[in-house]
Amino acid sequence: MTHAGRIAVVTGAGRGIGAQIAIELARRGATVVCADLQMPAATLLAIGSGAVGVAADVSEPAGWKTIATAAPGTVDIVVNNAAYYPNAPIDTLDFDTWRRTMAVNMDAHFLSAKQFLPGMRQQKWGRFVGISSNSVGLAIPGMSHYIASKMGIIGFMRGLANDVAADGITCNAVLPGLTDTPATAAMDDAQRRATWQGQAIQRFADPADVVGPVLFLTSDDAAFMTGQALVVDGGQYRVG
Ligand SMILES: NC(=O)c1ccc[n+]([C@@H]2O[C@H](COP(=O)([O-])OP(=O)(O)OC[C@H]3O[C@@H](n4cnc5c(N)ncnc54)[C@H](O)[C@@H]3O)[C@@H](O)[C@H]2O)c1
Repeated sequence: MTHAGRIAVVTGAGRGIGAQIAIELARRGATVVCADLQMPAATLLAIGSGAVGVAADVSEPAGWKTIATAAPGTVDIVVNNAAYYPNAPIDTLDFDTWRRTMAVNMDAHFLSAKQFLPGMRQQKWGRFVGISSNSVGLAIPGMSHYIASKMGIIGFMRGLANDVAADGITCNAVLPGLTDTPATAAMDDAQRRATWQGQAIQRFADPADVVGPVLFLTSDDAAFMTGQALVVDGGQYRVG
Protein backbone atom coordinates (compact mmCIF):
# COMPACT_ATOMS: atom_id res chain seq x y z
CA MET A 1 0.00 0.00 0.00
CA THR A 2 2.71 2.45 -1.05
CA HIS A 3 0.09 4.95 -2.22
CA ALA A 4 -2.45 4.65 0.60
CA GLY A 5 -4.38 7.86 1.16
CA ARG A 6 -3.11 9.51 -2.02
CA ILE A 7 -5.38 11.01 -4.67
CA ALA A 8 -4.01 10.47 -8.17
CA VAL A 9 -5.14 11.73 -11.57
CA VAL A 10 -4.30 9.56 -14.58
CA THR A 11 -5.12 10.86 -18.06
CA GLY A 12 -5.81 8.57 -20.98
CA ALA A 13 -6.89 6.02 -18.37
CA GLY A 14 -9.44 4.37 -20.63
CA ARG A 15 -7.05 1.89 -22.21
CA GLY A 16 -3.43 0.91 -22.80
CA ILE A 17 -0.67 2.14 -20.53
CA GLY A 18 -2.87 4.68 -18.74
CA ALA A 19 -5.41 2.03 -17.75
CA GLN A 20 -2.66 -0.18 -16.25
CA ILE A 21 -1.17 2.75 -14.34
CA ALA A 22 -4.60 3.68 -12.93
CA ILE A 23 -5.39 0.10 -11.90
CA GLU A 24 -2.02 -0.43 -10.17
CA LEU A 25 -2.10 2.95 -8.38
CA ALA A 26 -5.52 1.93 -7.03
CA ARG A 27 -4.18 -1.49 -5.99
CA ARG A 28 -1.46 0.32 -4.02
CA GLY A 29 -4.07 2.28 -2.09
CA ALA A 30 -4.58 5.47 -4.11
CA THR A 31 -7.97 6.94 -4.99
CA VAL A 32 -7.60 7.33 -8.74
CA VAL A 33 -9.37 9.89 -10.87
CA CYS A 34 -9.44 8.16 -14.26
CA ALA A 35 -9.76 10.71 -17.06
CA ASP A 36 -10.29 10.09 -20.75
CA LEU A 37 -12.19 11.60 -23.68
CA GLN A 38 -15.04 9.21 -22.89
CA MET A 39 -15.91 7.83 -19.47
CA PRO A 40 -13.26 5.06 -18.95
CA ALA A 41 -15.81 2.41 -18.03
CA ALA A 42 -13.57 -0.68 -18.33
CA THR A 43 -10.90 0.83 -16.08
CA LEU A 44 -13.46 1.85 -13.49
CA LEU A 45 -14.87 -1.68 -13.54
CA ALA A 46 -11.38 -3.17 -13.11
CA ILE A 47 -10.63 -0.94 -10.12
CA GLY A 48 -14.01 -1.42 -8.47
CA SER A 49 -15.36 0.68 -5.66
CA GLY A 50 -13.63 3.98 -4.95
CA ALA A 51 -12.63 4.70 -8.52
CA VAL A 52 -13.61 8.06 -9.95
CA GLY A 53 -14.24 8.43 -13.67
CA VAL A 54 -14.33 11.60 -15.68
CA ALA A 55 -14.83 12.41 -19.36
CA ALA A 56 -12.55 15.34 -20.17
CA ASP A 57 -10.35 16.67 -22.96
CA VAL A 58 -6.98 17.34 -21.31
CA SER A 59 -5.93 19.79 -24.02
CA GLU A 60 -8.53 22.28 -22.72
CA PRO A 61 -8.54 24.29 -19.47
CA ALA A 62 -12.20 23.26 -19.04
CA GLY A 63 -11.12 19.60 -19.05
CA TRP A 64 -8.86 20.18 -16.05
CA LYS A 65 -11.61 22.05 -14.20
CA THR A 66 -13.83 19.00 -14.73
CA ILE A 67 -11.10 16.69 -13.43
CA ALA A 68 -10.51 18.90 -10.37
CA THR A 69 -14.23 18.97 -9.59
CA ALA A 70 -14.39 15.17 -9.76
CA ALA A 71 -11.40 14.71 -7.43
CA PRO A 72 -12.51 13.87 -3.87
CA GLY A 73 -9.87 16.10 -2.23
CA THR A 74 -6.44 17.61 -2.85
CA VAL A 75 -4.73 15.89 -5.77
CA ASP A 76 -1.32 14.48 -4.77
CA ILE A 77 -0.25 12.78 -8.00
CA VAL A 78 -0.72 13.66 -11.68
CA VAL A 79 0.24 11.18 -14.39
CA ASN A 80 -0.12 12.89 -17.77
CA ASN A 81 -0.40 9.93 -20.11
CA ALA A 82 -2.96 10.85 -22.81
CA ALA A 83 -1.45 11.44 -26.22
CA TYR A 84 -2.14 12.27 -29.86
CA TYR A 85 0.19 10.54 -32.30
CA PRO A 86 -0.87 10.57 -35.99
CA ASN A 87 1.89 9.56 -38.38
CA ALA A 88 2.53 12.42 -40.82
CA PRO A 89 5.76 13.03 -42.73
CA ILE A 90 6.75 16.69 -42.71
CA ASP A 91 5.68 17.15 -46.36
CA THR A 92 2.06 16.32 -45.52
CA LEU A 93 2.00 17.41 -41.87
CA ASP A 94 -0.42 20.33 -41.61
CA PHE A 95 -0.56 23.08 -39.00
CA ASP A 96 -3.80 21.80 -37.44
CA THR A 97 -2.20 18.41 -36.77
CA TRP A 98 0.90 20.10 -35.35
CA ARG A 99 -1.24 22.30 -33.06
CA ARG A 100 -3.43 19.39 -31.89
CA THR A 101 -0.31 17.34 -31.10
CA MET A 102 1.10 20.14 -28.99
CA ALA A 103 -2.26 20.75 -27.30
CA VAL A 104 -2.84 17.15 -26.20
CA ASN A 105 0.78 16.15 -25.58
CA MET A 106 2.12 19.37 -24.03
CA ASP A 107 -0.55 21.90 -23.08
CA ALA A 108 -2.11 19.27 -20.79
CA HIS A 109 1.06 19.22 -18.66
CA PHE A 110 1.04 23.00 -18.22
CA LEU A 111 -2.69 23.06 -17.46
CA SER A 112 -2.40 20.26 -14.89
CA ALA A 113 0.39 22.13 -13.11
CA LYS A 114 -1.64 25.33 -12.97
CA GLN A 115 -4.65 23.39 -11.69
CA PHE A 116 -3.05 21.29 -8.98
CA LEU A 117 0.14 23.05 -7.85
CA PRO A 118 -1.58 25.36 -5.33
CA GLY A 119 -2.97 22.38 -3.39
CA MET A 120 0.30 20.46 -3.58
CA ARG A 121 2.28 23.48 -2.39
CA GLN A 122 -0.02 23.91 0.58
CA GLN A 123 0.45 20.32 1.71
CA LYS A 124 4.17 20.26 0.79
CA TRP A 125 3.91 17.07 -1.27
CA GLY A 126 3.21 16.36 -4.91
CA ARG A 127 4.20 14.22 -7.87
CA PHE A 128 4.04 14.96 -11.59
CA VAL A 129 4.90 12.22 -14.06
CA GLY A 130 4.83 12.97 -17.78
CA ILE A 131 4.67 10.02 -20.16
CA SER A 132 7.13 10.84 -22.93
CA SER A 133 8.55 8.28 -25.41
CA ASN A 134 11.87 6.69 -26.33
CA SER A 135 11.10 7.83 -29.90
CA VAL A 136 12.90 11.07 -28.93
CA GLY A 137 16.13 9.12 -29.47
CA LEU A 138 15.21 6.91 -32.43
CA ALA A 139 15.06 7.27 -36.21
CA ILE A 140 11.28 7.03 -36.65
CA PRO A 141 9.97 8.78 -39.78
CA GLY A 142 6.73 10.77 -39.95
CA MET A 143 6.73 11.71 -36.27
CA SER A 144 8.52 15.09 -36.10
CA HIS A 145 5.54 16.74 -34.37
CA TYR A 146 5.14 13.87 -31.90
CA ILE A 147 8.87 13.67 -31.14
CA ALA A 148 8.96 17.45 -30.61
CA SER A 149 6.07 17.20 -28.14
CA LYS A 150 7.61 14.24 -26.30
CA MET A 151 10.94 16.07 -26.01
CA GLY A 152 8.93 19.05 -24.73
CA ILE A 153 7.52 16.94 -21.91
CA ILE A 154 11.06 16.15 -20.75
CA GLY A 155 11.94 19.84 -20.91
CA PHE A 156 8.86 20.90 -18.98
CA MET A 157 9.46 18.32 -16.25
CA ARG A 158 13.06 19.52 -15.94
CA GLY A 159 12.06 23.17 -15.71
CA LEU A 160 9.04 22.65 -13.47
CA ALA A 161 11.19 20.64 -11.07
CA ASN A 162 13.21 23.77 -10.29
CA ASP A 163 10.16 25.87 -9.47
CA VAL A 164 8.44 23.44 -7.10
CA ALA A 165 11.19 21.47 -5.34
CA ALA A 166 11.07 23.60 -2.19
CA ASP A 167 7.51 22.42 -1.59
CA GLY A 168 8.26 18.69 -1.75
CA ILE A 169 6.98 18.32 -5.31
CA THR A 170 8.83 16.24 -7.89
CA CYS A 171 8.48 16.19 -11.67
CA ASN A 172 9.82 13.42 -13.88
CA ALA A 173 9.34 11.98 -17.36
CA VAL A 174 8.97 8.30 -18.23
CA LEU A 175 9.98 7.21 -21.75
CA PRO A 176 8.36 3.92 -22.79
CA GLY A 177 9.47 2.07 -25.88
CA LEU A 178 6.99 0.51 -28.30
CA THR A 179 4.40 -1.21 -26.12
CA ASP A 180 1.53 -3.57 -26.82
CA THR A 181 -1.51 -1.25 -26.61
CA PRO A 182 -4.37 -0.36 -28.98
CA ALA A 183 -2.00 2.30 -30.33
CA THR A 184 0.34 -0.37 -31.73
CA ALA A 185 -2.29 -3.03 -32.48
CA ALA A 186 -1.89 -2.57 -36.24
CA MET A 187 1.81 -3.54 -36.16
CA ASP A 188 2.45 -6.99 -37.61
CA ASP A 189 4.80 -9.58 -36.12
CA ALA A 190 7.72 -8.54 -38.34
CA GLN A 191 7.41 -4.90 -37.25
CA ARG A 192 7.22 -5.94 -33.61
CA ARG A 193 10.26 -8.20 -33.99
CA ALA A 194 12.20 -5.36 -35.65
CA THR A 195 11.57 -3.34 -32.48
CA TRP A 196 12.41 -5.89 -29.83
CA GLN A 197 15.44 -7.19 -31.67
CA GLY A 198 16.97 -3.76 -31.01
CA GLN A 199 16.40 -4.12 -27.28
CA ALA A 200 18.56 -5.84 -24.69
CA ILE A 201 15.43 -7.56 -23.37
CA GLN A 202 14.23 -9.51 -26.38
CA ARG A 203 10.44 -9.22 -26.24
CA PHE A 204 7.74 -6.68 -27.05
CA ALA A 205 6.76 -4.54 -24.05
CA ASP A 206 3.48 -4.96 -22.21
CA PRO A 207 1.72 -1.96 -20.57
CA ALA A 208 2.52 -3.54 -17.19
CA ASP A 209 6.24 -3.04 -17.96
CA VAL A 210 5.77 0.72 -17.78
CA VAL A 211 3.83 0.72 -14.52
CA GLY A 212 6.61 -0.07 -12.01
CA PRO A 213 8.71 3.01 -12.73
CA VAL A 214 5.59 5.19 -12.53
CA LEU A 215 4.68 3.66 -9.15
CA PHE A 216 8.21 4.34 -7.94
CA LEU A 217 8.32 7.95 -9.15
CA THR A 218 4.93 8.71 -7.55
CA SER A 219 5.89 7.18 -4.19
CA ASP A 220 7.78 8.48 -1.17
CA ASP A 221 10.73 6.32 -2.25
CA ALA A 222 11.50 8.73 -5.12
CA ALA A 223 11.43 11.90 -2.97
CA PHE A 224 15.01 12.89 -3.96
CA MET A 225 14.56 12.21 -7.67
CA THR A 226 13.31 15.06 -9.85
CA GLY A 227 13.79 16.55 -13.30
CA GLN A 228 14.73 13.12 -14.65
CA ALA A 229 13.89 11.18 -17.79
CA LEU A 230 13.54 7.45 -17.09
CA VAL A 231 13.73 5.23 -20.17
CA VAL A 232 11.57 2.08 -19.91
CA ASP A 233 12.14 0.22 -23.17
CA GLY A 234 13.99 -3.02 -22.46
CA GLY A 235 17.29 -1.33 -23.20
CA GLN A 236 16.69 -0.09 -26.75
CA TYR A 237 17.62 3.57 -26.37
CA ARG A 238 20.54 4.29 -24.04
CA VAL A 239 21.45 7.72 -22.76
CA GLY A 240 24.28 9.10 -20.67
N1 LIG B 1 2.16 2.30 -27.00
C1 LIG B 1 3.41 2.63 -27.29
O1 LIG B 1 4.08 1.93 -28.06
C2 LIG B 1 4.04 3.86 -26.69
C3 LIG B 1 5.42 4.06 -26.86
C4 LIG B 1 6.02 5.19 -26.29
C5 LIG B 1 5.26 6.11 -25.61
N2 LIG B 1 3.91 5.89 -25.47
C6 LIG B 1 3.15 6.89 -24.75
O2 LIG B 1 2.43 6.25 -23.70
C7 LIG B 1 1.20 6.92 -23.50
C8 LIG B 1 0.06 5.92 -23.59
O3 LIG B 1 0.12 5.27 -24.84
P1 LIG B 1 -0.91 4.12 -25.23
O4 LIG B 1 -0.25 3.30 -26.27
O5 LIG B 1 -1.45 3.49 -24.02
O6 LIG B 1 -2.03 5.02 -25.96
P2 LIG B 1 -3.54 4.66 -26.33
O7 LIG B 1 -3.85 5.39 -27.58
O8 LIG B 1 -3.80 3.20 -26.26
O9 LIG B 1 -4.34 5.36 -25.12
C9 LIG B 1 -4.32 6.74 -24.99
C10 LIG B 1 -5.60 7.18 -24.30
O10 LIG B 1 -5.56 8.62 -24.22
C11 LIG B 1 -6.84 9.11 -24.51
N3 LIG B 1 -6.77 10.49 -25.00
C12 LIG B 1 -6.28 10.92 -26.19
N4 LIG B 1 -6.43 12.24 -26.30
C13 LIG B 1 -7.02 12.67 -25.16
C14 LIG B 1 -7.44 13.94 -24.69
N5 LIG B 1 -7.28 15.04 -25.44
N6 LIG B 1 -8.00 14.02 -23.46
C15 LIG B 1 -8.17 12.91 -22.70
N7 LIG B 1 -7.80 11.68 -23.09
C16 LIG B 1 -7.24 11.56 -24.32
C17 LIG B 1 -7.38 8.17 -25.57
O11 LIG B 1 -8.80 8.25 -25.66
C18 LIG B 1 -6.87 6.82 -25.08
O12 LIG B 1 -7.79 6.16 -24.24
C19 LIG B 1 1.14 8.04 -24.53
O13 LIG B 1 1.61 9.23 -23.96
C20 LIG B 1 2.10 7.57 -25.59
O14 LIG B 1 2.63 8.65 -26.36
C21 LIG B 1 3.29 4.80 -25.99
